[in-house]
Amino acid sequence: MSYGSHYTVLKKECIDTLTEKAPTDVKSYYADLTFGGGGHSFEFLYRNPLFNVRSTDQDPDALKNGNARIESEGMLGRIKLINTNFVHFAEMIREHSPEVFEAGGFQGILLDLGVSSHHFDEATRGFSFRFDGPLDMRMNHESDEFLTAAEIVNTYDEKDLKRIFEEYGEEKNARKIAMKIVEERKVKSIETTKELENIVFHCYPKEHRYGKTNPSTRVFQALRLEVNRELEVLSNTITQLIPLLKMNGRIAIISFHSLEDRIVKNVFRDSMALTELPVEVLTKKPILPTEEEISHNSRSRSAKLRILERIEVKKDKNKYKY
Ligand SMILES: C[S@@+](CC[C@H](N)C(=O)[O-])C[C@H]1O[C@@H](n2cnc3c(N)ncnc32)[C@H](O)[C@@H]1O
Repeated sequence: MSYGSHYTVLKKECIDTLTEKAPTDVKSYYADLTFGGGGHSFEFLYRNPLFNVRSTDQDPDALKNGNARIESEGMLGRIKLINTNFVHFAEMIREHSPEVFEAGGFQGILLDLGVSSHHFDEATRGFSFRFDGPLDMRMNHESDEFLTAAEIVNTYDEKDLKRIFEEYGEEKNARKIAMKIVEERKVKSIETTKELENIVFHCYPKEHRYGKTNPSTRVFQALRLEVNRELEVLSNTITQLIPLLKMNGRIAIISFHSLEDRIVKNVFRDSMALTELPVEVLTKKPILPTEEEISHNSRSRSAKLRILERIEVKKDKNKYKY
């Protein structure tokens, strides 16, 4: 499966803000913690020959495609793609990338959260109810570290299933869906995306089954967040990144739903209260994609970009740039 079709969200906005303060005469380092199809990573490389990138992804397909693209574009000397969950990024960089610290740290760090179009388009990964496939949803499907969606659906008790559908999916029919899953799995374990979609569909009142949004959308989102522990990983990661920044270096984070955005907003705000490493939040309100971007890529409509900058001295009052 090719990554060529992935549309990079808020590309210009991210690269512009992260490169704005880069020196013109020495090397700068950037971190792209969500390499995916490499859209953002390569944009740094194209922007300036002095820019170098350290990227991560935990998805074996993204890594394979990425390494092939890095080689074919002759960028081996300027970008390293690290196979890890980004929660381990800070630790790995400290151990293996002294060159970044010799340069004073990262000029910019980017996270474009969630899964890529590739995940949704590849039936065997189980992220989408559009295709029949195994109910997997692990971003790293070659590791046993996380449970698959099928393991969660077939082993969590009814109370926990209801909780994740409510908390992570804001699903109004959570109680009924959890109850029905438990009932169905007594007869036969639920193994495929279409089996789960069918259960959720029949839990919806008839008049709501054929609306604009597929009834399974929220349940699938909730399961994906639970499988990959996306919210926990995100909140554990952001604070570890701030000490990796060069003075005036920035972190830019694109989130795709309110739960992620709330974590970014709160961790950024709390970081401003700390004095040891002063930072300033540059976005009073998140930056959103333009109407034009949304018309080219409807998935970008829920994207929100927040930016933080490391500063010399803690300010009394935050003056937002955006
Ligand atoms: C939205 S895509 C990024 C797309 C990329 N910016 C582009 O334009 O091509 C998110 C990528 O981040 C990866 N990812 C998500 N959470 C991760 C985590 N905790 N650790 C490492 N990679 C992660 C996913 O596997 C996916 O490939």
